[in-house]
Amino acid sequence: MNNLFEPVRSIIEEEKMIKMILSNKRKKSLEYKKVDIRPLILKGEYMYHFEFIYDKKVTHSNLSKAKTKEKIAELMELSFKQADIFTDDNDITVLASKISKPHIVSRPATMKPQVLNHDDKKNYIIEEYKPCDFLVELGVMKPSGEVIKKHYSKFRQINRYLEIIDDVFPYLPKDRTIKIIDFGCGKAYLTFAIYYYLKKLKNLNVEIIGLDLKKDVIDFCNQVAVKLGYDELKYLVGDIAEYENDYADLVVTLHACDTATDFALINAVKWNTKVILSVPCCQHELFSQIDNDIHEPLLKHGILKDRLTEYLTDGLRGLKLEAHGYSVAMVEFTSLEHTSKNILIRAIKTGDTESSKALKANQEYETLKNFYKVNPTIGLL
Ligand SMILES: C[S@@+](CC[C@H](N)C(=O)[O-])C[C@H]1O[C@@H](n2cnc3c(N)ncnc32)[C@H](O)[C@@H]1O
Repeated sequence: MNNLFEPVRSIIEEEKMIKMILSNKRKKSLEYKKVDIRPLILKGEYMYHFEFIYDKKVTHSNLSKAKTKEKIAELMELSFKQADIFTDDNDITVLASKISKPHIVSRPATMKPQVLNHDDKKNYIIEEYKPCDFLVELGVMKPSGEVIKKHYSKFRQINRYLEIIDDVFPYLPKDRTIKIIDFGCGKAYLTFAIYYYLKKLKNLNVEIIGLDLKKDVIDFCNQVAVKLGYDELKYLVGDIAEYENDYADLVVTLHACDTATDFALINAVKWNTKVILSVPCCQHELFSQIDNDIHEPLLKHGILKDRLTEYLTDGLRGLKLEAHGYSVAMVEFTSLEHTSKNILIRAIKTGDTESSKALKANQEYETLKNFYKVNPTIGLL
C-alpha cells in the first residue's frame, strides 16, 4: 500500500480540510461511485466523516485522523483516480491515473471553513459559540464565540484538561482559597482556562500562578490578565528547578519540557501538594543512559528506544510519587493518535512514605532503575 502523498497527508494532519471528494473509479466493478469526506468533532475529538455514495444508497463511517490517512491512501490506490480537496487556503485537485505519478493542481480557495459538530456542546466545559474573554484575547476564539479552526486542537486540549481538573475537584480544599501553580505555563492558555473555570464559572476563591523562563511571554500574559481583570492570576519569570514558594494545593504542567516536569513534581511533593496533574513531553534525559543487555535487540532501534525512554521516564516518575504517598494514575490525555504528549500523570496525596504501598513502590523504583542502569532527575526526591 502506498503512503499517502503530500500535500494530502499534511492537510489531514494539520486539520486544514474542509471537504474532499474522491471520484473517477479505477474499476467499473467498484460498487460505490464517489466518496465525500468531511471533518467533524465527535466526543471532543477531531475525526473525519466518510460518505460512500452508491447508485441507490449511501453508507457512512467516522474515522480517526490516523485511520483517515490510511483509508484515503487505500482508496486512492485501489478505487479512485481523482481527489478534489477544499481547504482554508486553496482548492487542490489530485489526478492519479498512475498512483506513483500524481498530477497536482492548486487554485484559490472557494469554500468557507466549516466543521460538523456531532457533539452535544454541553460536553465542553468551555462551550463553543459562547464568547469567552480569554480565548478571544488569545486568538483562539472569534468575538462571536466561534472557535478559529486552526486552534480547534488547543480548544479541545484545554477542555480536556478542565474535565480532568473537574474529576479531582473533590480533593481540593473547600474552606479556603485554593492555590494553584502552572509550571512552564508558556503562553498560558491552560492557566487562563483554569482561572476562568474556577473563578468565573464556579465562583471559587483561587490564587493562580503561572511560571515560565520566558520574560516576553510572561509580560504578555500579565498584560492580558490585567486587561481581563483576572486579579488573582499572576505570571512570574523563573526556573521551576529554583522556584521557592510556600505551597500549592494543585500543581499542573502541560508539556513542560524534559526534566522541567521532574522539578515541578519535586516541588509539589515537597509542599505535600494534594493534587498533581502533569502532561510530560520531550522525555529525553534517560535516552543516553539506558543500558540493558536483555533489551539490546529492542534498543538498537532508535524509535523503540525513544518510546521506551518515554514510558520508563514516566513509569519511574509514577513510582516515585507513589513512594511519597500519592495514588497515581496514568490517564490518556488526548486520544487522537499516539503522541509522546498523550499521557497525563494524575497523582493525589492519599498516604505517606511509610505505608506498605509506598515502601513497595520505592523498591520497585530501585529495581527498575537498576535494571536499565539509569539515574533520573526524579530520583532527587
Ligand atoms: C512546550 S511549552 C508548553 C507551554 C504551555 N504549558 C502549553 O502547553 O501551551 C514548554 C514551556 O515550558 C517552559 N520551561 C521549560 N523549562 C522550564 C523551566 N525549567 N522553568 C520554567 N519554565 C520552563 C518553556 O519556556 C516553555 O514555555
